[in-house]
Amino acid sequence: MSSPYPIKVRAVWYDEELRQLCWVNTLKLPHEEEITCSNDPKRVAKAIIDMEIRGAPAIGVTAALAVGSYALKITSLPVEKFAEELRKAINELWRTRPTAHNLFYALIRMNKTLDEALKSTNDTYRLAEKLIKEALNIYWEDVTANMKIGEYGAELIPDDATILTHCNAGALATSAYGTALAAIRIAWYKGKRVRVIATETRPVLQGARLTVYELVKEGIPVTLITDNAVGMVMRRKLVDLVIVGADRVTRDGYVVNKIGTYMIALAAKRNNVPFYVAAPTSTVDMERTVDQVVIEERNPNEVKYVMSKLITIGDVEAINYAFDITDPDLISAIVTERGVIYPPLQSNLEKLLGYSSR
Ligand code: MRU
Repeated sequence: MSSPYPIKVRAVWYDEELRQLCWVNTLKLPHEEEITCSNDPKRVAKAIIDMEIRGAPAIGVTAALAVGSYALKITSLPVEKFAEELRKAINELWRTRPTAHNLFYALIRMNKTLDEALKSTNDTYRLAEKLIKEALNIYWEDVTANMKIGEYGAELIPDDATILTHCNAGALATSAYGTALAAIRIAWYKGKRVRVIATETRPVLQGARLTVYELVKEGIPVTLITDNAVGMVMRRKLVDLVIVGADRVTRDGYVVNKIGTYMIALAAKRNNVPFYVAAPTSTVDMERTVDQVVIEERNPNEVKYVMSKLITIGDVEAINYAFDITDPDLISAIVTERGVIYPPLQSNLEKLLGYSSR
């Protein structure tokens, strides 16, 4: 597949020669661009848990490539053992992070591919070929989704706009251009004058470390603010629109995204600033309503330490929700690769994805 847009930053990819999955360790950015390659699902699972690789679409693509490249590694095993090993790998990857829907979307596809392939062959080489092919399909579908989200999203951005974004919904969270940042990139490539306000995104600073890094590489003007400055920049009329990503969009139109998103949506509503969400349909969970979503709670030390420095009393209690929930009435539209979904979100999601109300 060819793309009219350059890919300047990559989070995760498949190395054909090594027959391994490679990724940039986002924990080391922006100061160090460290690349790791592996075909060991345990190593990949650890990289997802520790957030070397993060962002919903990137996590899904990574899990699929981990299964595919592991299959290529273990073709010398008897077929029963081969299948058992892959099922163990899928289970291990399944348990890494609970909120991003893309992880489960990708692993369900890989598991189904394994089941189907086993019906037609016992040849482990042929099975592995089918698995890596499906993983690469998932990867390339995400590249295409990024591009289409970018095209649709760019239409929503007027010329000379200042856009506020949260966390990192960029190349470093996906296979190519990002979701929220794809819209901004493509508006920029099309010649629109855009500026970005990036929130730092405590506790692990994906905005300050990753979004700023990506936008500086593109040459797109970016200004960093603390998370708690969002209300003030909106009150001062410095923001024309908000675009964020999503870890899961539920059937009833709620958006689960990086902690802090909900407060931004509330401030946007109060200040009449449009609030857009950009997400591929692999993030949309038509099986669940919002009350059925597991919100990941991470190690409290992420709150108590900043870049390995303790910033509080060591034994204080801390809560570390990784994500929050934004209600549909705060959302102006959801930009997907299949088009823009406007309110009412539940029925329009059902129309777009072909599901009827249950
Ligand atoms: O904890 P993270 O860094 O994995 O959280 C990432 C986000 O919340 C992103 O906004 C979301 O995954 C969308 S990425 C295109």
